[in-house]
Amino acid sequence: MRKIYLVGFMGCGKSMIGRRLSYYLKLPYYDMDSEIVRQQGMSIPEIFEKYGEERFREIETEFLRTFRDERCIIATGGGVAMKEENRKIMRRTGLVFFLDATFHDIYSRIRHDQNRPIVQRSTREELEALYNSRRKSYKESAHINVLTEKRTVRQIVEYIGFQV
Ligand code: S3P
Repeated sequence: MRKIYLVGFMGCGKSMIGRRLSYYLKLPYYDMDSEIVRQQGMSIPEIFEKYGEERFREIETEFLRTFRDERCIIATGGGVAMKEENRKIMRRTGLVFFLDATFHDIYSRIRHDQNRPIVQRSTREELEALYNSRRKSYKESAHINVLTEKRTVRQIVEYIGFQV
């Protein structure tokens, strides 16, 4: 029952690719943030505000530990691959794809986002530093790196579809 996990920085296209891949492969799709929002009955900014980022990170790990045993596609949150335990769970229970996008593309997608606390509280320079510092963990967590620059959604979906 191998799951397909999509990892990568905020705005790299995990949700968009996940939805299209779900249609292409005829597998259920789950967005981890949306599932957490549903479980907790609060938005991501509210969870950060009320419980703090550390608790949010625990909730993410609880989600990975307990999520249903089903072949499906999961778009993870951008911070999930930072924790070793999360990386282990993902690699043990599925195939992990890193959607590698340039910071330029990412920033143009996320800069005005109200629903991402990390974007809200950071400058462009801080986000770029975070992007650079996280790339190693994304690569370590993934079985397969997917370069998204100059590729269409369709090409990316077909590429991933071919590997599973
Ligand atoms: C986060 C990414 C977000 C969400 C939260 C924290 C991060 O998910 O989990 O705002 O630390 O990079 P997306 O990557 O889906 O935006």
